[in-house]
Amino acid sequence: MNILTFDSNEKLNEAGANIIAGLVQTQPKAVLGLATGGTPVGIYERLVSDFKRGLFSFSQATSFNLDEYVGLDKKHPQSYYAYMHEHLFHHIDLPAERAHIPNGNAPDPQAECERYDRLIADAGQIDLQLLGIGHNGHIGFNEPAHALIRGTHVVDLAEETLKANARFFDSVDEVPKQAITMGVGTILKAKTILLVVRGADKADIVHRALTGPITTDCPASLLQTHPHLVVLLDKEAAGKLS
Ligand code: GLP
Repeated sequence: MNILTFDSNEKLNEAGANIIAGLVQTQPKAVLGLATGGTPVGIYERLVSDFKRGLFSFSQATSFNLDEYVGLDKKHPQSYYAYMHEHLFHHIDLPAERAHIPNGNAPDPQAECERYDRLIADAGQIDLQLLGIGHNGHIGFNEPAHALIRGTHVVDLAEETLKANARFFDSVDEVPKQAITMGVGTILKAKTILLVVRGADKADIVHRALTGPITTDCPASLLQTHPHLVVLLDKEAAGKLS
């Protein structure tokens, strides 16, 4: 595990963007695992501005997003489809047919999960999986549970997650109660995992995930078992690490 701590958001964003850009420069056909939430926004902004300077191209790359809300229209501003287009896809040359996001409106969600897993399997292996973390230790939308699921599946969102994500909606009642998420088995199969965490409110969960027992009660703790885990933290999120 390689933990890097930054004293400014700008430096953290630069480091995150450089890791992604470096991969597509050396491996143009890279398969990227992408994340949403507040955390990666600055990294995507930096990536877009470097892309616009002509430093690299995504024209041969493929991407898979971690998750999507169930039952939210694609056009809803809080859908992860809308988020990815606003923050990244609209600004870069990644071909639309290779930018994959689970379809949260599929008539048969189970069939959609199977379709998504097949697409990932057909692409080979995810080269770099970008990840954030929920306050309860969730990764993607894999919530703390007695047992975790390997592949893509429909999940009931935890009360804590609904409350945390209510800030993006008019009220907590508008947050979808379910999501489709890549499973932890798929996440852990990525060649490299890039975990990014910001803020003092995440210091406890960072400490628990990276130094605590490996348990399904804290899905992010499973990342400790990954051979190539890179962690980018601001100094607030790193506050409880020695
Ligand atoms: C969300 C997403 C996760 C994200 C996490 C933290 O609900 N499903 O992929 O990492 O929760 O989000 P944020 O970065 O906004 O704190």
